Amino acid sequence: MEIVYYEKLQQKLIPSIYELACMIEESIHEPVNITFGKIYELLVRKKGIFFICYVNKEEISFGFLSNGGYNKKHKRLMFFAVKKDYRNQSLGKNILRKVIKDKIYLDSGCMLACKAYLEKFYGELGFKVYNKVHTSKDEITMLLSSTDCNIEKVNFGFYNDVEVREDYSKIYEGTTVYNNVLYKNIFLGLLFLILLLWIY
Ligand SMILES: CC(C)(COP(=O)(O)OP(=O)(O)OC[C@H]1O[C@@H](n2cnc3c(N)ncnc32)[C@H](O)[C@@H]1OP(=O)(O)O)[C@@H](O)C(=O)NCCC(=O)NCCS
Repeated sequence: MEIVYYEKLQQKLIPSIYELACMIEESIHEPVNITFGKIYELLVRKKGIFFICYVNKEEISFGFLSNGGYNKKHKRLMFFAVKKDYRNQSLGKNILRKVIKDKIYLDSGCMLACKAYLEKFYGELGFKVYNKVHTSKDEITMLLSSTDCNIEKVNFGFYNDVEVREDYSKIYEGTTVYNNVLYKNIFLGLLFLILLLWIY
């Protein structure tokens, strides 16, 4: 099992982000466009970490941690899923144990919001229900922290403030490259043109 972390958007990540968004839609009915859009926009702004778990070079699980909200080191596990064929084999918990070890600063804490039925799953990883913040009836908010970090100061809106466009289908269907690459290429093209004009 190998976990690779990506802190900025790359074209090769698009299919994996899309696959995670599809699994999230299937399990908790969050539209693909919203999950895909949030991860996409936060990665473009370098405000999160997308991770992929590989077993024998096959991608078996994906997740996304966003930065900030409480302090710069605070994280939020926004999305996580294991491919259907690999579920209920303790892989989910083992992957998250490694992610916590690698990427979570326990004194700054890590939040997550999940369906209430996952309380035991995340509880076994050390997350505790933070009762004061229930996003809706069947959802709970949980916190993993070594200190009693001042939860009142967490800016919960931070994660939803990211502006998600109406439609990302051209990006995840592969009919267009993501903007950063596009802008970079246009910029390099213009630079090359200016250089040529200057030489002649
Ligand atoms: C939740 C998820 C990541 C767990 O991955 P996994 O590899 O199966 O996890 P593990 O094998 O380590 O642990 C499975 C535990 O999760 C619990 N679990 C998972 N889905 C559940 C559900 N829908 N209802 C109740 N319990 C559930 C299982 O009961 C099991 O508990 P146990 O260990 O006491 O038997 C996986 O089921 C998944 O990808 N689900 C779809 C996406 C999702 O819901 N993501 C979380 C919200 S963002």
